[in-house]
Amino acid sequence: MVTESVNVQRDTSPPQRLDLPLVERRQAGRDYVRLVLDAPAAWESLPGQFLNVLCESDPRAAVGSERRTLALDEGGEWPLATGLELGRRKWPFVRRPLSVSRVLRSGVNVRLEMLVRQVGSGTRFLAARTPGTPIDVVGPLGNHFTLPGDDRLCILVGGGCGVAPIFGLADWFLERGRACVLIVGAPAFEELPVVFRETPPATGDAVAPCPGFADPDIDVETILSTDDGSAGFHGTAIEAVRRRLKDVGDDRPIALYGCGPERMMRALARLAERRGAPCQVSLECFMGCGVGLCLSCARKMRDPASEKGWTYRLTCQDGPVVDAHDVVWQ
Ligand SMILES: Cc1cc2nc3c(=O)[nH]c(=O)nc-3n(C[C@H](O)[C@H](O)[C@H](O)COP(=O)(O)OP(=O)(O)OC[C@H]3O[C@@H](n4cnc5c(N)ncnc54)[C@H](O)[C@@H]3O)c2cc1C
Ligand code: FES
Repeated sequence: MVTESVNVQRDTSPPQRLDLPLVERRQAGRDYVRLVLDAPAAWESLPGQFLNVLCESDPRAAVGSERRTLALDEGGEWPLATGLELGRRKWPFVRRPLSVSRVLRSGVNVRLEMLVRQVGSGTRFLAARTPGTPIDVVGPLGNHFTLPGDDRLCILVGGGCGVAPIFGLADWFLERGRACVLIVGAPAFEELPVVFRETPPATGDAVAPCPGFADPDIDVETILSTDDGSAGFHGTAIEAVRRRLKDVGDDRPIALYGCGPERMMRALARLAERRGAPCQVSLECFMGCGVGLCLSCARKMRDPASEKGWTYRLTCQDGPVVDAHDVVWQ
């Protein structure tokens, strides 16, 4: 099944390298930090697009050895680097892809919100930056989610760090007056990437709306779910979707949108297929360059024109947002 033009780039700034000042940093749950960056007034990106972020305080720093520096601008030779030297580096050599979670506009001021889960050296480097520090980014990169062509109900599902673009997607739907429900899932309460200003929802079977967990608020019906039942709906995000769909009824057309772990996205794609609904997902994978050069983000996608029935596509260019029905799930 083919949804609408998922890969069309519209109304977004051309990718550029920028030093964006960090203006705000806040812990969000146990593992996440919310970072807010100042962006140029002309900044335009759409939900699903990402930044490739340098996680290194000095890009010209020595490759492993303190004695040799990169001096490419001065026409110097690229230093010989052994695996051992690279292994000794404190910070990662390649940039790290991170979604633009939300674009916050106030008058001419544009701010980009990122939600960073600290999983390794790169994300820990970023999480440790203090306000005032410039963050070296390349972006906006990749494609973006698209709106449905009619007024169907859209269910937006985020899990893990995949919640980041889903928050921005909810803002985007809201701005355009589209009906949507946001479902945020995590294994347990402390793993939810949210800042609660109000009492977190009690656990139970209800898929009850939960206000006051984002800043600024996301003003759409939001359901939190935890696998262990420590807050919100007791069950996975996909079970919460199924429960919400029971209330919606079989006749109401819907569209599903998701970003999260592979298993969650595969389950969402199956649910969409059974219901005959369009489904767009943002894929997670390792990336290097972010611009189609290194081939590290190749991923099997269905291709009826190919003899094998599938072909490799680059997630950084043909994605990260794809039609879930086209994915060869791993
Ligand atoms: C398009 C895109 C958007 C993303 N947006 C966000 C975001 O908004 N917020 C966020 O916190 N993270 C996001 N990620 C994931 C993020 O890029 C990785 O977590 C990050 O690169 C890890 O870098 P590190 O140096 O901290 O960890 P590393 O030391 O490189 O790895 C630590 C651990 O994380 C795993 N890992 C590393 N990179 C990835 C990856 N890309 N996908 C899955 N597992 C990985 C490794 O297997 C390892 O177990 C996004 C990824 C993509 C492809
Ligand atoms: S990240 Fe280099 S080709 Fe996609």
